Amino acid sequence: MPLFEIDPDIRKARTLASEFYTDPACFELSKEKIFVHSWQFLGHADEVDGLKPATILPGFLDEPVLLVKTDETLACLSNVCTHRGKILVEEPCQANLIRCGYHGRRFSLDGKFLSMPEFEGVENFPCESDNLRQLPFSTLGGFMFASIDPVAPFNAFVNDAAPLLGDTQPQLLRLVETREYEVNAHWALYCENYLEGFHIPYVHRSLSEIVDYGSYTTETFRYSSLQTALSEPGAPSITGTGFQVGDERHPVATAPGSDAHSNIAASYLFIFPNLMFNFYPWGLSVNVVRPVTPSKTVVEFLTYVSDETLMETGAGADLHGVEMEDEAVVESVQKGIRSRFYSHGRYSPTREQGTHHFHRLIAEFMK
Ligand code: FES
Ligand SMILES: [Fe+2]
Repeated sequence: MPLFEIDPDIRKARTLASEFYTDPACFELSKEKIFVHSWQFLGHADEVDGLKPATILPGFLDEPVLLVKTDETLACLSNVCTHRGKILVEEPCQANLIRCGYHGRRFSLDGKFLSMPEFEGVENFPCESDNLRQLPFSTLGGFMFASIDPVAPFNAFVNDAAPLLGDTQPQLLRLVETREYEVNAHWALYCENYLEGFHIPYVHRSLSEIVDYGSYTTETFRYSSLQTALSEPGAPSITGTGFQVGDERHPVATAPGSDAHSNIAASYLFIFPNLMFNFYPWGLSVNVVRPVTPSKTVVEFLTYVSDETLMETGAGADLHGVEMEDEAVVESVQKGIRSRFYSHGRYSPTREQGTHHFHRLIAEFMK
């Protein structure tokens, strides 16, 4: 298994070695090394009423969990019975306790073991491992995140990027569509393409008429990064109350009656390793990148709208068209990195800071 090294100085650095994408062992290892230790998106808290089963990264981590909302709390439990492993809750429902449909073991809504038939005389029972595990869980801007074994608490993980999501004004956002795209490429190739605007003038002709390429910026934080695209004069931009990142103010959430204006065409927030929050004049598009095989990835698109009248305008107007252009180029790279003549490349210091930052995090987690 190769160790991956990325020089912190982008001017000296070489890109991630192609083995990372081509070696099936690296793909398997990335589950435990990267995804188990980072945070995953579980939708919006408004979508939970009572008990709701969910799966963390279906087809990859495949971890069955249970979202539990009571009057006081919202939590994420293991959805696997501690007796012989049956899935406990198969459908969203209302209940004041959890009862396994296999042999009747019961748990309270905070996961504590309550009772089990026919277990009289069993030694050292019940004990801690008979309770359901509570997963590290957090919400931000109304969105839910859980992790199996995080390297850092959610707040520390999202840290400087937190205000972006924290200020999204969830009451204004409505989930209007979910869609899945299947891409014939490694998950990291999809992400690293997203992380640079360098390709916009070459790959996205119509987007480049809306976005001012010259003023495109990338800021990197510990486990996240933010790309900001200003609009060409006259093109639609984001208005809103704004949020603060470092010293800069980024208007984002569209608040009715707000008179704050800016010329931001789109803000792209990436949370390592696979979450994308794209702020457009009409609202927020969330992308969850789900690895399937070393050469297949599913990308979920969740469309949260705050102002439907702006859907057809600006940088967020033709997301499907832009996605098709991105997929074509990423699938082409998937073929290229298999070449015996390619092992790695170099970075543009002015245009590929986000990709460099992403590769550095992969190298750090894969150690
Ligand atoms: S598997 Fe749940 S009670 Fe047996
Ligand atoms: Fe793109």
